[in-house]
Amino acid sequence: MRLEGKVAIVTGGGRGIGLAVAKRLAEEGAAVMIGEIDTSLGESAVATLTGEGHKAAFVTCDVSDPASAANLAADTVSTLGGLDIVVNNAGITRIGDFLETDIEDFDAVLDVNLRGVFAVSQAAAREMVKAGTKGAIVNICSVTAVLGMPEQISYCVSKAGVYQLTRSVGLALADKGIRVNAVGPGTVQTEMSAGVLDYDTDNVAMKRVLARTPLGRLAKPEEIANTVLFLASDDAAYLTGHIVFVDGGRMIQNIVLSFDD
Ligand SMILES: NC(=O)c1ccc[n+]([C@@H]2O[C@H](COP(=O)([O-])OP(=O)(O)OC[C@H]3O[C@@H](n4cnc5c(N)ncnc54)[C@H](O)[C@@H]3O)[C@@H](O)[C@H]2O)c1
Repeated sequence: MRLEGKVAIVTGGGRGIGLAVAKRLAEEGAAVMIGEIDTSLGESAVATLTGEGHKAAFVTCDVSDPASAANLAADTVSTLGGLDIVVNNAGITRIGDFLETDIEDFDAVLDVNLRGVFAVSQAAAREMVKAGTKGAIVNICSVTAVLGMPEQISYCVSKAGVYQLTRSVGLALADKGIRVNAVGPGTVQTEMSAGVLDYDTDNVAMKRVLARTPLGRLAKPEEIANTVLFLASDDAAYLTGHIVFVDGGRMIQNIVLSFDD
């Protein structure tokens, strides 16, 4: 087991990619703290993990609130006995026409997706530095850090921020032996993407996604979790400041060359 004796935080670990990550890290021996805004999702994630024989706990947390982020980090150390790995996964999106979007919607997405990553990373790194732990932070970014979407501008901007936060915080923490990397998924089959896509392939949006995904299918949450595990483990001991795009080949394709869609 690659994470025996380690303690990991997974924000937004109640469902979707976060729950898959929590399970994968636990399978490799980590004790997992779920930091989740939705209490019932957090409790059910812990019940699932402990039911499978893993060590897990839950604290209600709004990642966009620095006090809540600090409480998450401190609670992890006191409840699970340390802190080695942080997966900044919690995220939201808002969809709408640029000309009609309220600034409050823009702020709400930036608060969770970018401010939340800063707040939790800082709180966790403070605990790691205090304990002398050479830990790992893994941020869940997105292909939209680089590829634009006109109807989800706040989301794209937030993920572009996470891209740069990964690199700059990686530099800031390198001399402490704390590595910071990110996974940039393409489209993953979760409740978040179900809000945008109908998985029925007759759906126009779904056809468009598949036409722009060389591997021809959506990702499973477990496939994102496998890359998170790699970046969190000692297998990635010499990697920091990297964003690994787990996207079925979307980023390598120049879509103007695809004449058949
Ligand atoms: N699904 C995709 O196609 C896709 C693609 C690229 C990146 N991502 C990113 O992956 C991450 C997980 O996405 P998902 O598809 O599993 O989404 P999801 O909506 O299924 O799960 C998100 C989880 O985060 C929690 N959460 C929301 N706001 C929070 C807050 N303020 N504090 C703590 N927890 C909070 C939610 O309760 C939920 O459990 C997000 O950062 C998302 O942007 C998803």
